[in-house]
Amino acid sequence: MTIKVFKTKEELYSEVYEYYLKRLNKQPNITLGLATGSTPIPLYEKLINGYNEKKVSFKEVTTFNLDEYVGIDSGHEQSYIRFMKEKLFGHVDININNCFIPSGENEKLEESRIRYQELLNNHTIDLQLLGIGSNGHIGFNEPGTPFDSKVHIIELDEKTRIDNSRLFNSLDEVPTHAITMGIKDIMNAKEIIVIATGENKADAVFGMIEGPIDTDLPASILQKHPNVVIYLDEDAASKLSKERK
Ligand code: GLP
Repeated sequence: MTIKVFKTKEELYSEVYEYYLKRLNKQPNITLGLATGSTPIPLYEKLINGYNEKKVSFKEVTTFNLDEYVGIDSGHEQSYIRFMKEKLFGHVDININNCFIPSGENEKLEESRIRYQELLNNHTIDLQLLGIGSNGHIGFNEPGTPFDSKVHIIELDEKTRIDNSRLFNSLDEVPTHAITMGIKDIMNAKEIIVIATGENKADAVFGMIEGPIDTDLPASILQKHPNVVIYLDEDAASKLSKERK
């Protein structure tokens, strides 16, 4: 694991952005693993600016998103498909037919799970972007999820629902389940970038980097991945031992 700690979020996101520019220009047909949540938004904004400034193109890029809520309409404000269109896909020259997100429609869940797994089995993610939940989840792989898990439906932790309720009108509106790439699918990516900012991520970040590798903290498995770079601000890094900072 490579750990990078930044004084400001601006410095952090600028460095991640520069790295994406380099990777996308080196490999225009790259397969990206994408994340939702608040964490990737500044990166997506920079990538949109980069596209507008003709520094990067997404024409040949394929993307796979980590997860989607179950039982949420694709037009719902908080659906991840809508999020991705609003925050990235709708603003760049990506071919939307090459952008994959599992469907969380109630009626077709099993079909959706099988289809997404087949797609992932047939593609290799070159560069996976991850945020981390305050309970250490990656994607929606909540504590207790086996490390060999593949695409599955999961019941969301109360903590996750409370964290994400800030984006809904009330806690009751937050879906109880999600469909997510499994931990094994995430670990299959050739390269992984994790971004975490803010004090409420500090415990999860400590567990991911210095804790035992344990399903209680799903992100701890990343210690075993051969190519992970973790970008932190000082608050998220605040619980790490001194030599890590
Ligand atoms: C979300 C997503 C994760 C994300 C995490 C943190 O619910 N399923 O992929 O990394 O929780 O979210 P945020 O970036 O908003 O803190």
